[in-house]
Amino acid sequence: MIQVKRISHATFETPDMDRQIEYFTEIAGLVLAERVNGRAYLATKLGDLAVQLEKGTEARCARIALQVAPETSIDDIRRGIEAENLRCEVRNDPTPGVAKMVTFEDPKGTVLEVFAGQTPIGKNQAVPGIGPLKLGHLAFCVPEPKDFVEFYTRVLGFRMSDWIQDWFAFLRCGPDHHTLNFVRGKRTQMHHIAFELKDWAQIQTACDFLGGKNIPLIWGPGRHGPGHNIYTYHRNPDDQIIELFAELDKMLDESLGHFDPRPWHRDRPQKPKVWERTRDIWGMPPTPEYIRQRE
Ligand SMILES: [Fe+2]
Repeated sequence: MIQVKRISHATFETPDMDRQIEYFTEIAGLVLAERVNGRAYLATKLGDLAVQLEKGTEARCARIALQVAPETSIDDIRRGIEAENLRCEVRNDPTPGVAKMVTFEDPKGTVLEVFAGQTPIGKNQAVPGIGPLKLGHLAFCVPEPKDFVEFYTRVLGFRMSDWIQDWFAFLRCGPDHHTLNFVRGKRTQMHHIAFELKDWAQIQTACDFLGGKNIPLIWGPGRHGPGHNIYTYHRNPDDQIIELFAELDKMLDESLGHFDPRPWHRDRPQKPKVWERTRDIWGMPPTPEYIRQRE
């Protein structure tokens, strides 16, 4: 097993590079750090690589980059993956800010890029648009979430945070309540991309900004049950759901086994659990524009 610490960035294929670059820079508020060999590298306003874009026939998430402890050798990463009887490849070419990585596929064919060391690819700067702090998590529709929970906990050291009944799994790899979600859906595909904003006030600003651009909110704002984050969702031009969130639960000390207490928690302490019917702490139900992603 290897022990993933954080998500770095995700690679999305798109049929229209220019349109996606325009969305991620002008609306999402990322910075186009580099565009070479048919790839675009987009950083946060803090300079961290968050999104990589490539041309493809349809919009999809092709790869996810995950970081292990910086002192880990590339051979140790490779051995940890091979110990699980998975085929992997060491890559020396890859990405701005990352010199070496080991790549392999998860059970649905998403390429996982695991690396140890990374440097920022841009400077701290002001941006137009929303301007998230980081890529927070990715969610995927899969036929059976528990198969993916088994894979990600066994191979990559993820921990179970919460379930909603048996159809929505929340996995963490660091203090954040979730970095990957697996939700039961009719087709295997990405469900949403989530960016973390600084606070509630920035979410409000983002909602007003999206409203000014005539981009409808398809769910929220509200406060989720699992993770307790404030959320809003909209769609980008590739019809991908983008979540903006703040105030996500954190488990700063794994050994305590509970999330840091917050005023909106109803369990004291708030431990990982299976949630039943009540999904949100407050907020209206999702719109059909949100729900259609799982259909
Ligand atoms: Fe989410």
